[in-house]
Amino acid sequence: MAQIELNTSLRNYNTFRIDINAKSFARFNSLETLEEVLSTQHNQKILILGGGSNILFTKDYEGLVIKNEMKGITEMHEDEEYVFIKVGAGENWHQFVRYTIDKGWGGLENLSFIPGTVGAAPIQNIGAYGVEFESVLWNIEAYHFEDRRVVNFTKSDCEFGYRNSVFKNKFNQQFAILNVTVQLRKSPKFNISYGAIEKELEKMNIKSLSVKAISDAVIHIRSSKLPDPAVLGNAGSFFKNPIVEKETYERLKNLYPQIVAYPSIDEVKLSAGWLIDQCGWKGKRVGDIGCYEKQALVLVNYGNASGKDVFHFSEKIMDSVWEKFNVKLEREVNVL
Ligand code: FAD
Ligand code: EPU
Repeated sequence: MAQIELNTSLRNYNTFRIDINAKSFARFNSLETLEEVLSTQHNQKILILGGGSNILFTKDYEGLVIKNEMKGITEMHEDEEYVFIKVGAGENWHQFVRYTIDKGWGGLENLSFIPGTVGAAPIQNIGAYGVEFESVLWNIEAYHFEDRRVVNFTKSDCEFGYRNSVFKNKFNQQFAILNVTVQLRKSPKFNISYGAIEKELEKMNIKSLSVKAISDAVIHIRSSKLPDPAVLGNAGSFFKNPIVEKETYERLKNLYPQIVAYPSIDEVKLSAGWLIDQCGWKGKRVGDIGCYEKQALVLVNYGNASGKDVFHFSEKIMDSVWEKFNVKLEREVNVL
């Protein structure tokens, strides 16, 4: 029988370590247990929870929180170039990445050391060091709560964008992702165009490139600038890097020649970390909430900050970036 807990604290289930309660809480490790949980609970709003590393709870959750614990890694088939792997949505993302690296397969090495579960990777199309999740996705199986059936999603069905997908928009909280199938290269194609990787590989004195060397380099870089959630509560980048029109960028570049930006054809992505840093927030602390001293894009909970504290702190940052640069920041973290 599925266990339903009432008024459960979620402090240990979110990496910001915010202490709020869920009205009901359950776990599932198979489609059968998920359906069992859902059949006992009617007319409640539902939140599928992975590792809680991209969520800010600002109040008690007046609904049913269901923690995804679906496991399993299966090699489905292969062709000349690719191997296709089906992974349970509740598998730990980084452990799965290392599994593929031990096999020598290519595609996930740049996405090493991102906290959370496999099933959450498509939600915001996780990205790091020049690679996004969408580049490896083959298929998703997801359960539709209302229709009570499993639906398949191909890459194009997911409408991926920068930190965005159909699951954050028109299908927001309508599906539980059950598993994900990725296609990985049997002969990896390395992507070390992101500057910091090349420098790190040199530092590590790597003579022959491999997916393991790239993964290790990424782990070193990330450990040097991002706080470990086991030590300091946080949810990674709190804001997205804002995308502005070329004219806005030119105006800012005239005023601030040092501005950090990544131009593409029509638009320019600005570094939110740089903008926040320039407003003097880096290392600032108010009570138990602060702007991380090594990366201004990351907000941290020094102990007992509430979700509302974090939210208000983030609003002040958004206001000052708007006042100084006339640029609107958008939160990356899911605020509930
Ligand atoms: P959760 O926080 O549990 O959930 C996030 C959202 O996805 C919620 O809306 C939830 O309902 C939904 N969801 C989760 N699982 C499912 C499912 N199975 N079915 C349906 N909906 C689901 N992100 C990046 O993109 N790049 C980075 O480099 C990066 N670095 C980070 C570094 C640190 C230190 C931290 C703390 C976070 C970082 N993140 C990064 C953010 C985060 O790790 C990712 O967004 C990750 O994919 C979240 O996984 P999760 O399982 O913790 O999701
Ligand atoms: N910078 C500053 N001050 C700061 C922070 C950054 O000036 O306090 C400038 C520096 O010039 C630095 C540049 O911004 O070189 C870029 O910083 P960084 O390489 O740390 O990357 P980011 O743009 O801040 C993004 C992602 C991260 C991802 C890294 C690496 C977003 C919102 N964030 O951060 O993703 O790991 O690139 O690819 O796109 C996350 O989403 O949670 C996350 C951590």
